[in-house]
Amino acid sequence: QLVNFMKIYWLIVLCEGFRLISSIHSAEEVEQIKNWEVRDSDIFGVTYPKSGTIWLQQILILIEAKGDLTATKDENNLTRVPWIEVIGGEKKFLLEPSPRLRITHLPYSLLPAGLKQKKGKVIYVARNPKDVLVSFYHFHDFGVFLETPKDFNDFYEKFMDGQVFGSSWFEHIKAYHTHRDEMNFLYITYEEMIQDLRSVVKRICAFLEKDLTDLEIDNVVEHSRFDSMRHNNKANYRTVSDQIFNHKKGTFLRKGSVGDWKNHFTVAQSEHFDKVFKEEMKDIPLFFSWDIT
Ligand code: A3P
Repeated sequence: QLVNFMKIYWLIVLCEGFRLISSIHSAEEVEQIKNWEVRDSDIFGVTYPKSGTIWLQQILILIEAKGDLTATKDENNLTRVPWIEVIGGEKKFLLEPSPRLRITHLPYSLLPAGLKQKKGKVIYVARNPKDVLVSFYHFHDFGVFLETPKDFNDFYEKFMDGQVFGSSWFEHIKAYHTHRDEMNFLYITYEEMIQDLRSVVKRICAFLEKDLTDLEIDNVVEHSRFDSMRHNNKANYRTVSDQIFNHKKGTFLRKGSVGDWKNHFTVAQSEHFDKVFKEEMKDIPLFFSWDIT
């Protein structure tokens, strides 16, 4: 019986070809998101899974609170910056006063239409996809709602085929890049955040037209560093139920580094990946740091 339950729990559901998870998403609800009314003050963070979503949530909360950590103490990041695609997302969205902070992994095609008419603001965080793949692989062990892969190669193949929650990394980023001018859009990378978090925070503040003092910016940066977040139970998903995350198997903030792919990819996988990347991204002039030394 438990096995049956777990099978159902992991079931992938498709919404217009995009892969979601049956236990937390409903294709019918997600289809309605296009019709949600967007306000100019709405802020949407967008990521492919494992690209620094929780990090962006933390930064957005802290910018809103002008760096005051007490803002993050009473509620966790999931409550402060909820997912639009998780079941029940619409009700919360309709009722919340401005400014509404939201997060999503949805592809460009499933976004609320208003965002594509320059209502609200979109911040897209991208991460080099080799590290995304590695982080996602480990996350399949930690997330109870995801099927644990047989081994790294098994997951590698599924990821390259887009047979994972979130579908293809390539399709996700390509669509957002192609349509970026239709939105109020800011593109940042995980690697820039690792290298110079302060200047990324300042770019986000400028984009959101938030006028923070130097000290307030310092506080945003300080409280969104890896070690600060890792030890802040509201900012690391530690309070999320054991039925969602297996906290015995690790922590949501796992390693937080650039280049961990080198500890996982074989030479053959890396060469294959580079070939696919070159072909898929040939018309997309985006550059990634594959390592930071
Ligand atoms: P790793 O598994 O490589 O450690 P998401 O929130 O999109 O699921 O992304 C999670 C990844 O972002 C994890 O990567 C996590 O450690 C990393 N991350 C989260 N907060 C971070 C921070 N403040 N600094 C660096 N990395 C962070």
